[in-house]
Amino acid sequence: MTNYSHLVNLKDRTVSPEVFTNPDIYLIEQEKIFRRCWIFVGHESQVREPGAFLTTTIGEEPVIVVKDHDGKVKVFFNSCRHRGVKVCRIDHGKAKVFQCPYHGWSYGIDGSLVGVPQQKTAYHGDLDKTQWGLIKVPRVESFHGLIFACLDDKAVSLEEYLGDIAWYLELILRRSKGGTKLLQGCHRWRVKGNWKLAAEQFAGDNYHADVLHKSLSLIGLAPSEFRGGIPWETDFQVKSSNGHGWINFKSPDGPLPPAVEEWIRHSREESKERLTATQAGLVHTTHVGGVFPNFAILSFMGFTFVRVWHPRGLNDLDVHSWALADEDAPDEVVAFLSTMLILNFSSSGIFEQDDVTVWGDMMSTLQGTVRRRFPLNYQMGAGHERRLSDRPGLIHPPSTEIGIFGFHEFWRSLMSR
Ligand code: FES
Ligand SMILES: [Fe+2]
Repeated sequence: MTNYSHLVNLKDRTVSPEVFTNPDIYLIEQEKIFRRCWIFVGHESQVREPGAFLTTTIGEEPVIVVKDHDGKVKVFFNSCRHRGVKVCRIDHGKAKVFQCPYHGWSYGIDGSLVGVPQQKTAYHGDLDKTQWGLIKVPRVESFHGLIFACLDDKAVSLEEYLGDIAWYLELILRRSKGGTKLLQGCHRWRVKGNWKLAAEQFAGDNYHADVLHKSLSLIGLAPSEFRGGIPWETDFQVKSSNGHGWINFKSPDGPLPPAVEEWIRHSREESKERLTATQAGLVHTTHVGGVFPNFAILSFMGFTFVRVWHPRGLNDLDVHSWALADEDAPDEVVAFLSTMLILNFSSSGIFEQDDVTVWGDMMSTLQGTVRRRFPLNYQMGAGHERRLSDRPGLIHPPSTEIGIFGFHEFWRSLMSR
């Protein structure tokens, strides 16, 4: 039996390298983390019409996300009930039925088994089709456009699970009257590293930006100082309930095209109708958020991405990343944001290259037979966090590791159950 209390030491605020490098732990996570938590599976804008679908995974398990005739989004295991073959092999589209490529069983968009080749001659009418529909994921809920699914039918509601971070997600998802949409086209790439290295960074590693991404400011592609706002007000980090984390700061206003500047001004003003005064004051500052376990959102210099860190083995993760835009933003603004995203945070993105390099390095050093006995330090800022009356969560100005260690505290509590 693995001793998780030793691996994440709450008193010393340290984490054992084993957490990232032990193959047994990786297998247990599939059961204790990915089968218990709410997992991001898509955005409502991707499945607007009945039959519109996309495929993704919950942990390593393939699923289909589809809008049913009743207007509800359903999630099914993407695995035929006959012999288990994937019934849908494409990323997204619109379907009337999903036909398995092996022997041709077909399923309706409500998951029911609707067609079986040679049903009369080979099965002699003995197959009860009502018992052999696709396996349904029991819980599906949305938060302002983001669709999450959960394999645990006894889980708390999505809103309760999001807890403190819901207030911060609203800064992006509710800033615009029309809500948000994902732009067509998912950027996908595979990198070396354990999925938690990426996830913990978005839960609160603000510390690395000045150093790891310094080359960007040296060549004039990013501001020389990322944080330029007021500590505790605009520049702070949040340790949210349930292992989520948020980084917020105000970057110096960069030179943006006039249409984008205008949209940001409009959006800040208009958000006051829906958000609290504190929230409205934070709209279109820089946001980096991690929803436990593997969802991330980043909004920087006017553009936003959402992404998922899909575990693909101990030392591999698939990144699926989309540009997110305000539903009613003008085309010119959307085109600019999309280009910015590709330049900065895509498989060839300038920021992206820095991060994937260190994640790969960490895996190679931490697997060492000696190095893996020495714990990693997450002590920054501990004990200096506060609660503020106008916003939820535990707050500390950048930089701090209260959020990132909170990720590991929650991981420890789930793994110890
Ligand atoms: S595995 Fe799907 S029809 Fe046989
Ligand atoms: Fe980074």
